[in-house]
Amino acid sequence: MIRLALFASGSGSNAENIAHYFRFRDDVAVTLIISNKTDAYVHERARRLGIPSFTYSREAFDKGDEILALLRRHEIEFIVLAGFLLKVSQPLLDAYPQRIVNIHPALLPRYGGKGMYGDRVHQAVVEAGDRVSGITIHYVNEHYDEGDIIFQAQCELLPGDTPEEVARKVHALEYAHFPEVIDSLVKKLNN
Ligand code: GAR
Repeated sequence: MIRLALFASGSGSNAENIAHYFRFRDDVAVTLIISNKTDAYVHERARRLGIPSFTYSREAFDKGDEILALLRRHEIEFIVLAGFLLKVSQPLLDAYPQRIVNIHPALLPRYGGKGMYGDRVHQAVVEAGDRVSGITIHYVNEHYDEGDIIFQAQCELLPGDTPEEVARKVHALEYAHFPEVIDSLVKKLNN
């Protein structure tokens, strides 16, 4: 059994979608959710899913040792950032080389970097008048949104689409693709 941990800072709709996807599998499961916010809605989702969830401060994420101890206790082999807004620190990167992936709600390398997350990204895309947006799933490295790209998918934007409409289209792509991409990466771990 390969155990996944999800890191999430907010609503956690992707986290829930991923947990559902693996729910009845006997080879892969989401067994831990970690956040940097005590009041993130992802904790409520975790409670309903029966998955333990924990909160750590930014300092604890930077230091890494407490979180690494928790990950080891839960025998976590792969980490998925699903709406997680802190930079992943070097101790975590060293412990999980090529085993941490992130989803970004735009077509990287455009609209990435520090401060570019969630609705801010969709706002920037609308302001630029772009006719496409999409999702990027990538390995995580020491720079925001710069790790090797694993997968991208696009959606068309219409003139007059609001940031909310762009967010809806992008979320639909995330729900459709992210679990399957994780599945294919995890399957390769033991080969
Ligand atoms: C998702 O759209 C994800 O791509 C984005 O945050 C949203 C979280 O939604 N991530 C980033 O912007 C990371 N830079 P959710 O909490 O409902 O899954």
